[in-house]
Amino acid sequence: MKTVITPPTDEAIKRAGEILRGGGLVAIPTETVYGLAANALDETAVKSIYSAKGRPSDNPLIVHISDISQWDALVEFIPENALELAKAYWPGPLTVILKKSPLIPPATSGGLETVAVRFPSNETARRVIDAAGVPLAAPSANLSGKPSPTKARHVFDDLNGKIEMIIDGGDCEVGVESTVITLAGEKPTLLRPGGVTVKMLEDVLGKIEINPAVLNSLENGEEAASPGMKYKHYSPKADIVLVEGSFERFRSILGKNEGAAALCFDGDAERLDGVRCVTIGAEGDFDGQAHRLFDALRRLDEIGAEKVFARLPKTEGVSLAVYNRLIRSAGFRVI
Ligand code: TXA
Ligand code: MG
Repeated sequence: MKTVITPPTDEAIKRAGEILRGGGLVAIPTETVYGLAANALDETAVKSIYSAKGRPSDNPLIVHISDISQWDALVEFIPENALELAKAYWPGPLTVILKKSPLIPPATSGGLETVAVRFPSNETARRVIDAAGVPLAAPSANLSGKPSPTKARHVFDDLNGKIEMIIDGGDCEVGVESTVITLAGEKPTLLRPGGVTVKMLEDVLGKIEINPAVLNSLENGEEAASPGMKYKHYSPKADIVLVEGSFERFRSILGKNEGAAALCFDGDAERLDGVRCVTIGAEGDFDGQAHRLFDALRRLDEIGAEKVFARLPKTEGVSLAVYNRLIRSAGFRVI
């Protein structure tokens, strides 16, 4: 199959709608990361997402809508707190999990009784959903296990020849995937941190639970509340280890590991003589770090890094999302 990359012209959006209605796959930009979209209500189309990505079939997909009115049909019931969240942060980088309606095929929900729904703010994403005329299931448009794509070229590198079309909407603004919260259990629980922060969620909901897998690896045999948390993720080829503590300590560890590369903050690079560095933004600039993280992980492969030491991000605000992704790409190794 030839994969076409196109800017979001009216003609391209119309064609994308046709491909999606016909059961095909189209990669689309969103404000978080690029998504690999298919008709969420078409079991066969959804299954082809799993095979293109090499994704385990028990890992459920997020269903994307272009208007809040489309939510109702996808879920059993929308509780008051879910509506309040949606009013505050939709359209935007937030995914809300509720009990699913019978419209959602098992392939979309990974066999679960719940469904994750998101109303993206990216205009191209919304135009494609409108053109398709159906809600779109869209996981990140990377090969399973690789860093999520934040540029059309990342999608092309992973999925060329496997999908019909990539719509190039430029760099994704947020750069990490949406915040995922479940309101299907007893207490609102954060399953994945993202651009909508814990503080922003608590401003609306009051105190929320944070699933332990957000910060730590699951114990052997422990069940994942979000199936995505149990799989190896965001991994470049390089072997990454996170380094806690000061820049001085970071430099001294690099000094003892000849040939290792550094994944570090802007400003660190000039002080690391002779070390190959990939930077992710200034130390205090959490939004900037989120925006650049996945491209930086792919850059490590491009420079042929085999062993990488990375500075440990903070766990506050949007940086919690950076921490959550980076600690997975390092297989939870922190020194
Ligand atoms: O920003 C995003 O959310 C991007 C863009 C394309 O919208 N999409 C995305 O999808 O990140 P994906 O499939 O890469 O991640 C979805 C995550 C997975 O970890 C999955 O396990 C979890 O959400 N998830 C989806 N439905 C769920 C459900 N019903 N219960 C628990 N976790 C769920
Ligand atoms: Mg993903």
